[in-house]
Amino acid sequence: MRIAILPTPEDIAVVAADRIQSLLERKPSAVLGLATGSTPLPLYDELTKRYEAGEISFADTQSFNLDEYVGLPEDHPEGYANFIHRFLVDRVDFPKGAAHGPNVWTGDNDQAAADYDKAIRDAGGIDLQILGIGADGHIGFNEPGGSFASRTHVDVLTEQTRRDNARFFDGDITKVPTHCITQGLGTIMESGEALLIATGAGKAEAVRQLVEGAISARWPATILQMHPNAIVLLDEPAAQGLELADFYREVWAKHQA
Ligand code: GLP
Repeated sequence: MRIAILPTPEDIAVVAADRIQSLLERKPSAVLGLATGSTPLPLYDELTKRYEAGEISFADTQSFNLDEYVGLPEDHPEGYANFIHRFLVDRVDFPKGAAHGPNVWTGDNDQAAADYDKAIRDAGGIDLQILGIGADGHIGFNEPGGSFASRTHVDVLTEQTRRDNARFFDGDITKVPTHCITQGLGTIMESGEALLIATGAGKAEAVRQLVEGAISARWPATILQMHPNAIVLLDEPAAQGLELADFYREVWAKHQA
């Protein structure tokens, strides 16, 4: 795991966008895994800025969202397919049909989850997976207690996650769905690179567990300690609980030199 502690979310966005840009220069047909939530928004703004400046193109790229709520109407603006179109896909040059998400509107969510997992494999797997982290340590929507080997599946959201996400639903937890389809931890672990972004003091405990805690289903993100190519981009408030922060800074600086 490589850890960068950077001054601002905008600095993080630049580092993350550099990695995506260099991947797409090497491999224009790369497959990106996309995360929702507020954390990746500065990154999506940065990618849009670079697209508008002619520095990056998604014309041969496919994307797969991490997850989707179950129970929202298909046109609900907070549905993750709509969210990702609004904040990235529709702002750049992804070809029509190249941005994928779990299809929670077929009437058979278990089958839809299996089909989605297969679609990722059929596309050649995810080259670079962008990740946020929940305050309870979830990645995608893999809540505590889930299997580290899980594939894309239907899952239940914790009350904390629903409380955290109520801000997208008029602050009303009763409007937040209780279920989702999410890429499994086993699916996420097959990505070529896992790029996790965490900002703000609200994520400090989850980040402390992610980087320095024991690998445990209590904090699902800790499985990334076993990922051969995981990069964790943090701002100072998110990194405040790390015992070895100065060492990580030194290692990151040496890698950049
Ligand atoms: C959401 C998403 C995750 C996201 C996380 C954190 O519920 N399912 O993919 O990483 O929770 O969200 P935020 O970035 O808004 O804090």
